[in-house]
Amino acid sequence: MRHVEISGRRLRLREVTIEDVDALHAVYGDPTATEHLPFDPRTREEVEESIIEAMKSSETEPRRLYVLAVTDLDGGEAFGVARLHIEADHPHSAEIGLGLRPDHWGRGIGTDLIRLILAFGFRDLRLHRIWGARSPANTAAQLAMLVAGMVEEGRIRHHVRARGAWRDSIVHSALEDEWEGHRDV
Ligand SMILES: CC(C)(COP(=O)(O)OP(=O)(O)OC[C@H]1O[C@@H](n2cnc3c(N)ncnc32)[C@H](O)[C@@H]1OP(=O)(O)O)[C@@H](O)C(=O)NCCC(=O)NCCS
Repeated sequence: MRHVEISGRRLRLREVTIEDVDALHAVYGDPTATEHLPFDPRTREEVEESIIEAMKSSETEPRRLYVLAVTDLDGGEAFGVARLHIEADHPHSAEIGLGLRPDHWGRGIGTDLIRLILAFGFRDLRLHRIWGARSPANTAAQLAMLVAGMVEEGRIRHHVRARGAWRDSIVHSALEDEWEGHRDV
């Protein structure tokens, strides 16, 4: 699917562009926002490179990676990012990731964003399974995924190397048929 633009009750998702570098750097360059992510805060240049990569991969066929900017319904400056990556060997399944600028946390936006990504994946991309992995300490991500209907599935031991140590991940997932009951985005 090309030129994605979808809206929920209060959020809009659209393709990232090079104009979003500063907005995304406010997420991925922020020590608070990256505390539970498996990488150190990124420089502006690193964020710019990742956006260029995302834009390139949006042209590939079949498309496997969607990196979408999160805005309000008026389409103002992006305050978050959502990623959906379709597995090459299991194209019915995709991993998601998300991040919001910290001044937008704690108001249910993360939960709404997950609902919107699930709607995009199941309704528009016809996926069967969508999953996300979080740090065991990431309570906000845990609650947002549970409230949005993603079931806690299990623990991957020593899944990632983060800040010089092995870190487990907790996997959450949603299946297409379960999602039917949560389609109110
Ligand atoms: C994870 C993230 C998207 C959640 O966004 P958010 O808008 O703050 O989430 P919500 O407001 O929808 O909160 C979801 C639940 O978590 C709770 N919560 C939010 N922040 C919390 C915190 N720091 N500690 C404990 N609970 C928290 C909320 O109260 C809410 O619970 P409720 O529905 O019972 O009220 C956001 O914290 C973020 O961008 N974090 C940095 C990147 C990241 O960790 N991404 C996820 C990787 S898996």
